[in-house]
Amino acid sequence: MRACRREAVPYTPIWLMRQAGRYMREYREVRAKTTFLELCKNPSLAAEVTVTAVERLGVDAAIIFADILLILEPMGIDLEFSRGEGPVIHNPVRNPEDVERLREVEDTGALEFVYEAIRQTRRELKPDIPLIGFCGAPFTLASYMTEGGGSKNYVQTKQLMYNDPGAWHAMMALIARALAKYLNAQIAAGAQAVQLFDSWVGCLSPDDYREFVLPHSQSVIQNIAPGVPVIHFGTGTASLLELLREAGGDVIGLDWRVRLDEGWQRVGHDVAVMGNLDPVVLFANQDTLRTQAKRILDQAGGRAGHIFNLGHGILPETPVENVIALVEMVHEMGHGLHG
Ligand code: CP3
Repeated sequence: MRACRREAVPYTPIWLMRQAGRYMREYREVRAKTTFLELCKNPSLAAEVTVTAVERLGVDAAIIFADILLILEPMGIDLEFSRGEGPVIHNPVRNPEDVERLREVEDTGALEFVYEAIRQTRRELKPDIPLIGFCGAPFTLASYMTEGGGSKNYVQTKQLMYNDPGAWHAMMALIARALAKYLNAQIAAGAQAVQLFDSWVGCLSPDDYREFVLPHSQSVIQNIAPGVPVIHFGTGTASLLELLREAGGDVIGLDWRVRLDEGWQRVGHDVAVMGNLDPVVLFANQDTLRTQAKRILDQAGGRAGHIFNLGHGILPETPVENVIALVEMVHEMGHGLHG
């Protein structure tokens, strides 16, 4: 929490995106008994998975176990996680008539299971471990809604954006209104910081980001309860960093395609940064892991306001012992840095 506010810290804090997941035996055991969506909707199991990851890894923050796509269901989107294929949306939004049919999320009570998971997790976590809430950013959610799943070229998404800008902006504004309510409800339940995941925003040109996306991400961030740190994360954003910063956030997430010192300079030293180890480095030997982690700490240079993380989520086949080793290395090497 202090690093989010760019205050002095005794060592560089670390947590990892997707720290609770299939790479971990404890997660697979819980997941074997239920589907992914059922797990998300079961507060005591979601809390268990959240807390187990923190304790096993020794990280400095928890992120509530959930998914960015859950908010789509109350909008009238028919969502399924199919084995092997990832998320599938059976009624994608491809034209103005589809946008017209989307439901305004008046109250976010449909996601009560997330708030209950947050309350239970907060009770089970050690008091000095902050709990992060999250949502997808409007663009990344819109991309799933239009494509119907993951995508390589975002043709459907951009077609709607270019051909029907009115419908596009109406959809993005509807998503943004839902997200602000959703994050504030997570905060009311006990989330101490919140993160926007704009995972796929890197497919946009800077001019398109400014015109079609920035106002909507900005509106979400501006409507979040004051005083709660906001982490604004995207990948492939090396050409968008200044714009991401303009959209808002107290902490900007950087991926590994940009040097941390350069990225920090570009977003400005008046915000904190999070990142930015390539998740695939966790598949290398521990000497390489140490060298690469040290490089990032050196680039942060002991400046207040660096949260160590990966540049994107942990991959499913990652060796868990390397993840634990990384957390230990960052704690050890990050100690001297802050005097
Ligand atoms: O970080 C954490 O530990 C909290 C949990 C979390 C999950 N998803 C659990 C999950 C978070 C923060 C997310 C965010 C999320 N979900 C993002 C943004 C982050 C990113 O990686 O870019 C995205 C794009 C999604 C959408 C999503 N959910 C996809 C594309 C998939 C399928 C791909 C995959 O990895 O399986 C999911 C499923 C998902 N979300 C799993 C987990 C642990 C795996 C589901 C399983 O157990 O089979």
